Amino acid sequence: MSERTPLLQLNDIKKSFGSIQALKGVSLEVNEGEVLALVGDNGAGKSTLIKNIVGYHQPNSGEIYWRGERVTFKNPDEALERGLSIVYQDMELIPSLTVARNLFLGKEPTTRFGKLDFDLMYDETKKVLDEIGLESLNDPTLPAENLSGGEAQSIKIGRALHFDADLLILDEPLRNLSVKESEKVLETVERTKEQGIGTIYISHNIFNAYELADRIHLLDAGRTMDEFRKEEIAGPKELINKMKTVAGGGTIA
Ligand SMILES: Nc1ncnc2c1ncn2[C@@H]1O[C@H](COP(=O)(O)OP(=O)(O)OP(=O)(O)O)[C@@H](O)[C@H]1O
Ligand SMILES: [Mg+2]
Repeated sequence: MSERTPLLQLNDIKKSFGSIQALKGVSLEVNEGEVLALVGDNGAGKSTLIKNIVGYHQPNSGEIYWRGERVTFKNPDEALERGLSIVYQDMELIPSLTVARNLFLGKEPTTRFGKLDFDLMYDETKKVLDEIGLESLNDPTLPAENLSGGEAQSIKIGRALHFDADLLILDEPLRNLSVKESEKVLETVERTKEQGIGTIYISHNIFNAYELADRIHLLDAGRTMDEFRKEEIAGPKELINKMKTVAGGGTIA
């Protein structure tokens, strides 16, 4: 048995949508300062799993422990208040709003007169841009529509981190990004790891997932198939071979 209490522990999580059994039993752990790569084919249940963790969906059965305490988050806001921050696969910034407004969306600070506190938002935004390596983009009043795909993605991650996340959950963060933009996002994840933040990293890009991961958790058709520490496999090619051998694997390579 491990001596330390995991940041997050899932036991046998199951979830159905009508007759579709999207999760048939998933168990995993994430520790502080650790990147867990969650890999699996299209439809394996990766997005569904993380939505069940943060209360976007409620599992039909199974247990979720946060820092050793059994939890049931009613919604993602409640999870965020406890330090679990998620960047969804399908979430976009609002193009017409400024970088600062996008960063604080739904959580805007107000002055004691009840007005939006723009000074505070701008100051905080500059700090976040600095943190995520976008200091060149030092104008918080820039509309989000002017950002590159990579900058927008980094802002989403910056937003996730800004609310004191202890666990960062990233679903396909490199989708549609150039090599250069991807590198920036990967650097951001490396930096958060150094700060002791745990990460669940979902990606179809096995090479990036392998590079970032401390452990790799393989899902197939809603089930935990295998899990390995990075040292246990020779490299991304071996990981791809393992994925191909599980039922349903195929589109990954
Ligand atoms: N809200 C929903 N209602 C009905 N079925 C759903 C719902 N969400 C997910 N599913 C189904 O659950 C299964 C798992 O989907 P999920 O999106 O979790 O896969 P994924 O591993 O994230 O795939 P991808 O790599 O393509 O993003 C799929 O069969 C999907 O159609
Ligand atoms: Mg998905």
